[in-house]
Amino acid sequence: MTDSDESYRLPEQVKPILYDLFLHPKLKEGTFSGKVTILIDVVEDRNTIALHQKGLNITSGTLITHGLEQDYEITISIGPPTKYDIFAISTENIIKPGLYQLSLEFDGKLNRDDQKDLIGFYSSKYQYYEEIRYIATTKFEPTYARLAFPCFDEPNFKAEFSVKLVCPMENSYHSLSNMNIIKTEKNKPEENLMTTTFAKTVPMSTYLACFIINDMVSSKMMAKGLNGQEFPVSVYSTKLQTKEKRQFALHMGVKAIEYYIKLFKIDYPLPKLDLVAIPDFVSGAMENWGLVTFREAKLLYDDRNNSIIDKRTVVEVICHELAHMWFGNLVTLAWWNDLWLNEGFATFMSFKSANEILPNQKHMEQFSVNVMHKAFIIDAKLSSHPIIHNVKNPDEITSFFDEISYKKGASVIRMMEHFIGPDVFYNAISIYLNKYAYLNAESADLFHILQDAVGSKLNITAIMDTWTRQEGFPVINVRKSENTYVLTQKRFLEDSKARYDPSKSIYEYRWTIPITYITNRNETPTLIWFDKDADEVVIKVDERTKWIKLNVNQVGYYRVNYGEEWETYKELLRHHPTRLSIADRANLLDDLFSLAAADEISYFPVLTISFYMLIQEYHAVPWAVASSKMKTIYTLLNSATAFGPHAGSYFQIFSQRIVDNIFKDVGWNFDDSMEDDVSLTGIDSTVRVTILEFACAVEKRECLKQAGRIFMNWLTLNKMPHPNIRELIYYYGMRYISDEDNWRVMYEYFKDETDPLEKNKIMKGLAGIKSTKILDNYIKLATNETVVRSQDFFQCLINISENPDGTLLVWDWVRNNWEFLQNRYSLNNRYLGQLIPAITKSFTTKTKLEEMNAFFAKYPDAGAGADNRKKALETVTRNIKWVEDMAPIIKDWFNEWFLKEDKSFNE
Ligand code: MLT
Ligand code: ZN
Repeated sequence: MTDSDESYRLPEQVKPILYDLFLHPKLKEGTFSGKVTILIDVVEDRNTIALHQKGLNITSGTLITHGLEQDYEITISIGPPTKYDIFAISTENIIKPGLYQLSLEFDGKLNRDDQKDLIGFYSSKYQYYEEIRYIATTKFEPTYARLAFPCFDEPNFKAEFSVKLVCPMENSYHSLSNMNIIKTEKNKPEENLMTTTFAKTVPMSTYLACFIINDMVSSKMMAKGLNGQEFPVSVYSTKLQTKEKRQFALHMGVKAIEYYIKLFKIDYPLPKLDLVAIPDFVSGAMENWGLVTFREAKLLYDDRNNSIIDKRTVVEVICHELAHMWFGNLVTLAWWNDLWLNEGFATFMSFKSANEILPNQKHMEQFSVNVMHKAFIIDAKLSSHPIIHNVKNPDEITSFFDEISYKKGASVIRMMEHFIGPDVFYNAISIYLNKYAYLNAESADLFHILQDAVGSKLNITAIMDTWTRQEGFPVINVRKSENTYVLTQKRFLEDSKARYDPSKSIYEYRWTIPITYITNRNETPTLIWFDKDADEVVIKVDERTKWIKLNVNQVGYYRVNYGEEWETYKELLRHHPTRLSIADRANLLDDLFSLAAADEISYFPVLTISFYMLIQEYHAVPWAVASSKMKTIYTLLNSATAFGPHAGSYFQIFSQRIVDNIFKDVGWNFDDSMEDDVSLTGIDSTVRVTILEFACAVEKRECLKQAGRIFMNWLTLNKMPHPNIRELIYYYGMRYISDEDNWRVMYEYFKDETDPLEKNKIMKGLAGIKSTKILDNYIKLATNETVVRSQDFFQCLINISENPDGTLLVWDWVRNNWEFLQNRYSLNNRYLGQLIPAITKSFTTKTKLEEMNAFFAKYPDAGAGADNRKKALETVTRNIKWVEDMAPIIKDWFNEWFLKEDKSFNE
């Protein structure tokens, strides 16, 4: 297909107004039948009506005029779908502009989880005592409503939906949809079946429709709207899950929806909101309007069995989905190239709202490490893409649900909120949401409204285009010259020597950057602008200025290289580290390690500064950064010599040394935790988990030994470890003990476990064993849907591949079983695409790179994984070079500095 092939888009001259939809799934047979009558508006003379369907058997169709004095039927013929799922209804004669009723009867297969992807109208199942229970449910975003009923399956065709669903009458089965129930008719259309009629929806896009036929139970609470009116919020789960877990989700759901109503000053427009935990679910969650669906592990949480990290994730996912009720559902992107308007906002808002509703959990503090730093990694590659990116083929639509849309999107929104100021920003957001309510918007529409709000002092479109319409981000280079700091900018790449053509971007990879800074003389942040067309920016300071910190709290989406000024940081961080905020310390660590990895600065100052910093650091966020950066180095160094001497050993000594102080202080005891996770010693649970995990990862002996002890107490005495450390106990305990019999016991636990979060932890634990024979067998067992649900299989493979003993095994298995994977998930599955970079990220040899190229050549069609292949090749190419160039430098630093300094430090 050429770049300009637009034949996958529907013509705009026929618009749906109302879908009257009847669906009758037969749960046990795995089929469904349906009928849809679509009220359409034809706006010009024509003889075809084009809409979407995929995999449906359309058995009959009629087209009738609507609203005339004497309506009449028009003779039609119905064509088969094209490769882009578009089919045409052709009329014998030209039809005139006006309203028509298009009715189609059809039947189809419920996509079975063991055969195909969990998309469209599909069936999920679970074991309820001796019985298998089926749930028919839907996942339509971005292009899968067409698998359930013929429709105009593009986000700009908003219409109303009147839905009728049929469900069995046995076992408390019932139906759910976006709206409230207005009628249930028993024994209709047949004995022992029930037909449920739902109220008509507001105008919405097809991808937000949702239908669930299920036997689940629920918990309910009322939430308040703007004028004190109330609406019910319910959480549904299978009967295997406890009420306590639904209750947590319910409280968070109510708090989040009330928070957004107040912030946007716009009511939630539907009469009810349901949050549903589905046993088989392709992504994390899906924001269907009024009927939000989740993976069980992303909704159901309880304090006694799940960890503080689980709690964070669940809260963020709930807050993310509920932000979509406005960003996405009320105001919808006009086309998928603006996906960030949905996902960037939902991601940013989830941190903001979670931070408000659970203030002690400090969600916003985690934003940089969990969101921005992850976006940086992808966006520092040549294979990155702009936030606003043309969709070149239909597979790309689903592949846009990536780190760039979500995480870079969220990061630039956060930066914008800051430079505009929250009051002005949220007022403008409220205007935007009101103006485009029930309509579609583009990035430019948002920027125009923000422009009106800020007046002439900033040019929002000009600023934001540099961040959204070209890939990548800048590094600011700082040079001190007497009483000035001179700033210049350039594009930051993970390999500073990588070549690219600046004319590929009309902004030539320059950005209009909000520069903020503090100094030792003035700790109130100052904001100045670095225009993309300016060569440099000069900051004047007085002679008593000793240091300057740019990008205060790392709100800006850029890096800073202080050049020779890193020397002043060495002193500052050695003697007065807390002069800088937690966020600034985390920022410095992230910039330091990334600049060194890219060869912008030497590892010498980086490792020296981090040594001084980390031996005194007690906060979770800088440690999360350090742990992630250092584990990457550790893995690469070890992977480079997988068959030779342990090259990482010197880095291991260094890693073990810097974690030593805090490791001794944090201990293993979570029982002294006060409410909201800060213990009596002032050490919070998050830092404790981070440290214990890091110490295990760098194989600190005392740590592994203790993990092994707790592991055996669990396995043999049934003494449950504290939920916060279960994941690391299961994994490193298994690694340390590594015994086949223990693995088998654990495997039985895994099979019986019904708590979804706990099950994930045991699944990870099983991946920790050293024996490749057992790991190999584990992969085979995991391909069985009744052992590992197909939704979890990718994670299972990634877990095994992250075990150094499993990396090659998984790579071989994936290559040998690619056709199995393709059949099970289809190439359009974005998670299949993401598997490749995930399982190859630690490769460091030319042989592996060649194997990757050969594999891609053998299967040239990458579907939604095309970008991921490019990304994976770029990463491995970089790894090879990094090991060659950097490993000797790190070793030199270790011998020349660390061995001496650490000794004198200890004296
Ligand atoms: C979301 O971002 O809320 C969903 O993950 C979207 C999706 O799965 O399609
Ligand atoms: Zn989302």
